[in-house]
Amino acid sequence: MASFGHEKIEKNVGLMAILIVIVISFGGLVQIVPMMYQASVVEPAAGVEPYTPLALAGRDIYIREGCYNCHSQMIRPFRWETERYGAYSVAGEFVYDRPFQWGSKRTGPDLARVGGRYSDLWHELHLINPRDLVPESNMPGYPWLADRTIDGEQVAARMRALRILGEPYTDAQIEGAAAAVTDKTELQALINYLQNLGVRAKPDAAAAGAP
Ligand code: HEC
Repeated sequence: MASFGHEKIEKNVGLMAILIVIVISFGGLVQIVPMMYQASVVEPAAGVEPYTPLALAGRDIYIREGCYNCHSQMIRPFRWETERYGAYSVAGEFVYDRPFQWGSKRTGPDLARVGGRYSDLWHELHLINPRDLVPESNMPGYPWLADRTIDGEQVAARMRALRILGEPYTDAQIEGAAAAVTDKTELQALINYLQNLGVRAKPDAAAAGAP
């Protein structure tokens, strides 16, 4: 009888759970695995290169200070987003972001293309006390960043770790890391990171406006 097998499954919760998991896993694999081989998703977009030692150090400070709690880094393909923030984000811009900082909470504006929007001095003053520039801002100040310097050895170690994960850092770049961040403050590193956000990729014309 055709319905016999089905009835057996319906009356056996354990068996049904196992079969459901198999069906869902298969559906998931069909969607996910092909993406792992899709060039537009796993290869860097034109102009995107691994972070320089200083920007990499700045990125770590961004994560340490929890900037992602209030700022996203992902411009969605809607006109109201592209008109405010610029060309929408594409996957290839984030291949060197480990972990990515897309986020979804926007207490402050999206920062995916904030690079070049303000001067270094603006960022410096803003990060030390946002209310000096934007009186109604509720962003906290980060004055201590100006008093601390970057540890070059740590940056080199991070680059070596990232190389294991696939970042194409050369030996020379890693050896030069300590020199590249000598005497730089955490504030300078963070600003360098912010000034590079979104400017490395050259978004194609299609991405400039929303569909
Ligand atoms: C409590 C939420 C909050 C946190 C945490 C926060 N910000 Fe902000 N940020 C804001 C708000 C709100 C604004 C808009 C007002 C202003 O410009 O100060 C803003 C604005 C900015 C801007 C200007 C963006 C633009 O397009 O005008 C930058 C750059 C920025 N934040 C960087 C940072 C960095 C870097 C950190 C971490 C060190 C950080 N923020 C942490 C809330 C936050």
